[in-house]
Amino acid sequence: MDIATPIPAFGPLAPDLQLDAQGRLRHLLTIEGLSRALLMELLDTAASFAGVNEKAVKKVPLLRGKTVLNLFFEASTRTRTTFELAAKRLSADVLNINIGTSSAVKGESLLDTLRNLEAMQVDMFVVRHAESGAAHFIARHVAPHVSVLNAGDGRHAHPTQALLDVFTIRRHKPDFSSLCVAIVGDILHSRVARSQIHALNILGTGEVRVVAPRSLLPASVECLGVRVFEDIRQGLKDADVIITLRLQRERMDSGLLPSEQEFYQHWGLSAERLALAKPDCMVMHPGPVNRGVEIDSCVADGPQSVILEQVTNGIAVRMAVMSLIMGSMAGGEA
Ligand code: CP
Repeated sequence: MDIATPIPAFGPLAPDLQLDAQGRLRHLLTIEGLSRALLMELLDTAASFAGVNEKAVKKVPLLRGKTVLNLFFEASTRTRTTFELAAKRLSADVLNINIGTSSAVKGESLLDTLRNLEAMQVDMFVVRHAESGAAHFIARHVAPHVSVLNAGDGRHAHPTQALLDVFTIRRHKPDFSSLCVAIVGDILHSRVARSQIHALNILGTGEVRVVAPRSLLPASVECLGVRVFEDIRQGLKDADVIITLRLQRERMDSGLLPSEQEFYQHWGLSAERLALAKPDCMVMHPGPVNRGVEIDSCVADGPQSVILEQVTNGIAVRMAVMSLIMGSMAGGEA
């Protein structure tokens, strides 16, 4: 773990936990430490599922008889629904636990909740939690036949978001070594940015930039393998891909920023600023978008935006992750 990685609330992060003795995916907790070969296998598998998603009957039987449980302790639109769709398209049974109406509100501990759900013969937990390290904690405690997929933990990691982002980039611009990717906005509180930086570096991206005011950059962010720009005009210049991030106020100490209007004025992606990048620059955003704060509506909805394509690609990418993990658990057969 490096200094730019947040301290987990749930005990140590152990990247090796997610691989089995043969180096295959057992859980997906973080992009950090994955090999380029494994990343490429995930992206290639997702490409084959993108074809399934364009057919009239969008279903394959790979996870028939398996049960996937969405365990979201934090709000989500895209991740929860695309995980559900992905599991259903693989023919799994899918359960969604509403934590707000579960017995967690009566004081049941996370481990007790887990033990009870495991007793229902669940095969895979998809976990989102506000605390960094929550998915690792659950992975350390599940039965040997159960897998855990991190759907976003605190500021730490959002691995499937990063996978769908690089999948989307690859569909438009397949040679990562020639690309300059600028990640703009609230890097400090962003699990998405951390996972994207790891994925882009593993894939050999020519230059990965973070573009933000110093107050929204983690200390020693350079050690993640990025170039830091505290001037937005320089940071966007000649970029091939711009990824904008929202201000994550739910993870922010008060007083970090004067106002949303001021943030837009200095750091928002306007049409004028987008013109500093390459003419065919892709505009990306993991969502949810705060229009007029980190991005202008005319850019978010404009011809260079692939924001909704990212959402669509999330289904194929999540199908790929689930099928490869189930294949590893079955000893090589999906
Ligand atoms: N990108 C993302 O994680 O969106 P949701 O919070 O809606 O899942």
